[in-house]
Amino acid sequence: MENEISTGTNRTGMKTSPVHSRELLEVRELQKTVPDPEIDHVALRTSYLAEAEPVGSMPPPPTLRGMAGTAMQALTGRKMHVLLDKLAERAAFERTGTRLYDMMLQKVAAAPSLPSGMTIEGVRQIRDEEHGHFQLLASTIEELGADPTAMTPCADVTGVQGLGLVQAMGEPRLTIAQALSTLLAAEVIDNASWELLIDLARQFGQDELAERFTNALAAEKRHDATVRQWLAAALREEAEIG
Ligand SMILES: [Fe+2]
Repeated sequence: MENEISTGTNRTGMKTSPVHSRELLEVRELQKTVPDPEIDHVALRTSYLAEAEPVGSMPPPPTLRGMAGTAMQALTGRKMHVLLDKLAERAAFERTGTRLYDMMLQKVAAAPSLPSGMTIEGVRQIRDEEHGHFQLLASTIEELGADPTAMTPCADVTGVQGLGLVQAMGEPRLTIAQALSTLLAAEVIDNASWELLIDLARQFGQDELAERFTNALAAEKRHDATVRQWLAAALREEAEIG
């Protein structure tokens, strides 16, 4: 198959060198008894936590036009920006998801073989659905009178979270199994987040939106199951389990 993991050259574990590991543990004990007089890390971080302002802010409230107009007016008292922030978050993550699958497509195209059951077409289908979800969210935000290009606080946070996934996926040395576990992390987040978004939309009286999102959730459930299957097959083949 693709680049296989070898054994025998990894010397990162402490058991590689009992002498050095003993010295390391001695230093740790020493540090416990002599605290750094210059910096109290816990106090420093506590002060940052106490003084921190929110990550960004929301754009001004959307106009009450379009499909949401009447529904929104019935919602006096509810903070529409909370729903809009979560919509923008989902849009940002689906965009990250599309990029992750774009990278996976390039990887599988270059791979000499794939785990049984996994196909380039299968990967492309999920990629296109993630992209479709991004477009659905962008048009939903637009219909609610807001700006889908605005970077909202939750979109910002999810973008930072997704950096780790994009960084892992961009590593050329990843095996197909490692790439699939990266996609699985994204799919688990996708599933939980769509469920929460559907609930929230319902609580805002946006049943029609919730219906649309239910289709997206059904697709995400398929993605999760498919990626799990591919990953399980990859691991079986890697371990040479018949
Ligand atoms: Fe997905």
